[in-house]
Amino acid sequence: PLRLGVLTGGGDCPGLNALIRGLVRRGVHEFDHSFVGIENGYMGLVEPELVRPLGVEDTRGILPKGGTILGTSNKANPFSYPVREGTGWVERDVSDQVLRRCEELRLDGLVAIGGDGTLSIAHQLADKGLKVVGCPKTIDNDLSGTDQTFGFDTARLIVTEALDRLHSTAEAHDRVMVVEIMGRHAGFLTLESGIAGGADVILIPEIPYRVESVLETLKRRATRRRSFSIIAISEGAYPEGGALSVLAEAADIPGRGVVRLGGSGKVCADLLARHIDAEIRVTVLGHLQRGGSPSAADRVLATRYGCKVLDLVRDGQWGHMVALRNNEVVPVPLSESRKERRVDVQGDLVRFARSMGIGFGD
Ligand code: F6P
Repeated sequence: PLRLGVLTGGGDCPGLNALIRGLVRRGVHEFDHSFVGIENGYMGLVEPELVRPLGVEDTRGILPKGGTILGTSNKANPFSYPVREGTGWVERDVSDQVLRRCEELRLDGLVAIGGDGTLSIAHQLADKGLKVVGCPKTIDNDLSGTDQTFGFDTARLIVTEALDRLHSTAEAHDRVMVVEIMGRHAGFLTLESGIAGGADVILIPEIPYRVESVLETLKRRATRRRSFSIIAISEGAYPEGGALSVLAEAADIPGRGVVRLGGSGKVCADLLARHIDAEIRVTVLGHLQRGGSPSAADRVLATRYGCKVLDLVRDGQWGHMVALRNNEVVPVPLSESRKERRVDVQGDLVRFARSMGIGFGD
C-alpha cells in the first residue's frame, strides 16, 4: 500500500469532492492505500500545518457538495511563490522546498487536481522528479488532452437556466439583455449554454466582434416584431481592435494574484447603447456559475477520474493525467494539458448555430 498526497488547486468547480471521494474510497477499499489531504493547493506544501490525514470517513456526505473539502488557492505557484519581503511582496522559486516537504511527509506520490495552472505546475514538478498524477477540472472546458472537464456540465446548466429566466423578463420589457458568462480565453461555456438557452447573439473570445454586426442581428429581430434580444457574451470576448478587452481592466495586486474586474458585458452594452434606443440591461453571472452542487453527469465523470487515478498509480504512470477520450477515461502525458484548447470557429456547433440565425458578431 502507498501513501498519497492529494491537493486541489486553482479555481474550484463542482465535482471536486466527488473526485476526492472516488479516489479515497477506491484507494482504501481496493488497494489499502492511505491519503494525506493537502490544503489550499500547493500552498499546503509550502506553508506549515496545512496537511491532515484523509480517510473514508472524511468523504462521507461530500458527494453533492460544491467547492472542495481541501480548500484551494490560485496564487500558490511554487515556481513563483509570493513571499513577503519588507513591506512588499516578491516571487521566489520554492519548488525544492516542495519536494523536500513531500519527502518529509513520506509521500509515495501526489495527486494534483486542477486546471491548466495546477497541471502545468504538476508537470514541472514531475520534471524535477516528483511522482505526480494529474486530474483535469475547470468549468471552462478549455483543457487540451481531454474531451471534457467536470464542472463544465454543471456550469452549462446554471447558465442555461439563467438565460431561460432572463428571456421572460426581457420579453416582458422588450429589452436587450447582455449576459456575461465565465471564460477568459475560451468560449465553450458561452457557446453551449448560449445555444441551450436560446441566445440570439453569442460573443466569444475566439471571434472578435463588430458592433455593427451585433446591431444588424438585433435589428433583424426587431423587424420580426420581436424587439427583445439575448446576447450571451464571454467575459473574455472583445470588440475588434481589442482596446476594450476585459483583460485590460485587470488590476494586478502583488502577492494577491490578479484581481479581475470583469466588464465585457458592460463594454458591449455601452457600445450598443450609442446606436439603439432599446433599453439594455447587463447581468454578470460571475461565481454563481462555479458554486453549488454538481450535476449527475459531473459527479459521474469526477468519480471516474478519481477511481482511474489508482490505475495510473498501480501501473507507475507518473507524470500523466487522467483524461476523457471517446468516452473512456485514459492516461495522457501531463504535457498535453499545457496545450491550449479553443472553440473551433469552423466546427459544426458554430456552423449550425449560424445557420439557425444566431449572430456571432463577425
Ligand atoms: O477558470 C475558471 C474560471 O472560473 C474562469 O472562467 C474565470 O475567468 C476565472 O476562473 C475566475 O477566477 P477567480 O475565481 O480567480 O475570479
